[in-house]
Amino acid sequence: MDNETFRHWAHHAADWSADYMDEVADLPVRAPLDPGAVYRQLPETPPDAGEEMEQIFADLDRIIMPGMTHWQHPRFFAYFPANASPPSVIAEQVTAAIAAQCMLWQTSPAATELETRMIDWLRQMIGLPEGFSGVIQDSASGATLAALLTARERALGMRGNREGLSGQPAVRVYSSAQVHSSVDKAVRMAGIGDANLVRIPVGGRHYAMDVEALERAVRADTEAGYKPAAIVAALGGTSIGACDDIAGVADVAERHGLYLHVDAAWAGSAMICPEFRDLMRGAERADSFVFNPHKWLFTNFDCSAHFIRDPKALTDTLGIRPPFLRTLGQDGVVDYNEWSPPLGRRFRALKLWFVIRSYGVERLRDMIRAHVAWARELAELFRAARDFEIVTEPALSLFTFRYAPAGTDETERDRLNADLVARINDDGRIYLTQTIHDGRFVIRFQVGATTTTRRDVLGAFDVVRELVAGLDVAPLRKAS
Ligand SMILES: Cc1ncc(COP(=O)(O)O)c(C=O)c1O
Repeated sequence: MDNETFRHWAHHAADWSADYMDEVADLPVRAPLDPGAVYRQLPETPPDAGEEMEQIFADLDRIIMPGMTHWQHPRFFAYFPANASPPSVIAEQVTAAIAAQCMLWQTSPAATELETRMIDWLRQMIGLPEGFSGVIQDSASGATLAALLTARERALGMRGNREGLSGQPAVRVYSSAQVHSSVDKAVRMAGIGDANLVRIPVGGRHYAMDVEALERAVRADTEAGYKPAAIVAALGGTSIGACDDIAGVADVAERHGLYLHVDAAWAGSAMICPEFRDLMRGAERADSFVFNPHKWLFTNFDCSAHFIRDPKALTDTLGIRPPFLRTLGQDGVVDYNEWSPPLGRRFRALKLWFVIRSYGVERLRDMIRAHVAWARELAELFRAARDFEIVTEPALSLFTFRYAPAGTDETERDRLNADLVARINDDGRIYLTQTIHDGRFVIRFQVGATTTTRRDVLGAFDVVRELVAGLDVAPLRKAS
């Protein structure tokens, strides 16, 4: 493709993108199709000869788009957001054109130096103190893996890296069951093993780890010959938004010399609003902290901000410096590949630069505040409605609710709510997902998409009530 043709189709792609943004609100949020429906429409073999862009774009509209779930839909209330915004999309387009691989300082000095500056902007925005540096990872999962590898090596005096794990004392990691499954995965990938992820019970309003139980578990493990290494604290757990008492957890970590990693993948963005920062009290004492601007800071996936107190411990763990990667004649530069599991790195800082400059921090705060306020308003509607109950209170912009008609038992309610979620998502006007909380099937509701309005959020109440009317409720049979 020559440059003039590229210019034409790049303009076309920009128009296509703007049209999509105009029209997405009218599409069903979740893709309404059966497994295999897209696959069957794709040719079994690749084309031998190149095809026209007209044809490729036509097939994009005909085959691909009907099979997309629309994460940027204003009524996307499922999972957590993976939001985007026009400035971020524009930056991604520019990033794709530059197509730099930013593994070393010299493979694009501007990318490295902008990343360092963006991480520091984010640090200031969420109120972490000076002294934390950081890196933009591909995902919170990658950051948590990097954190647990560092913790493992700190506990083992680097012997895991040098000698392998066999023959070492079993390394222990502590968290509640409210943390995201990326912690479980990192424990596996770090060779620590499921059996050494010690679950601490939760309690209280925020479903926080019981700090005394944590202390007891660490002591018991030490006495039993295990090697306690790390605690992972949740700041906004995925299921219901659980938040640990980070200051209390930090006391335990400091007392026993454990590494403290805070997973704030979703809720971290809300920390740009000072009024929510009570939730992160103590995070300034963590060894690392991760949050995803690609979740709730209007920045395209992938963009995960990983803050680190002692980067040397991280680069000693992950840094491998073969001769072919050395930057000759430039001492003291940052080579970010040494901070991450993968070597290759996209230029992720540019979209943050566009987003933060284009909106300004005050506007970003206002958007997040609005999401939180609307989620609370909707929760009140459900609380007041007959036959509905709020199961977990709003944690920022996430709450869970359940349809609980009088005269039904727990089993019947589980069935009704599973049926309700399926109906809601087949209907397509809104998109919600479920979780299991205290053994009960409950419906999650979170607000976080960039274009969501108060009307979209409150309108979800009418959709749910309308669809509840079609449920087949089997009341308990009266005892005879
Ligand atoms: C609390 C929490 N931590 C970690 C993750 C994993 O995020 P990522 O997809 O960036 O690995 C998620 C994903 O939803 C999450 O909610």
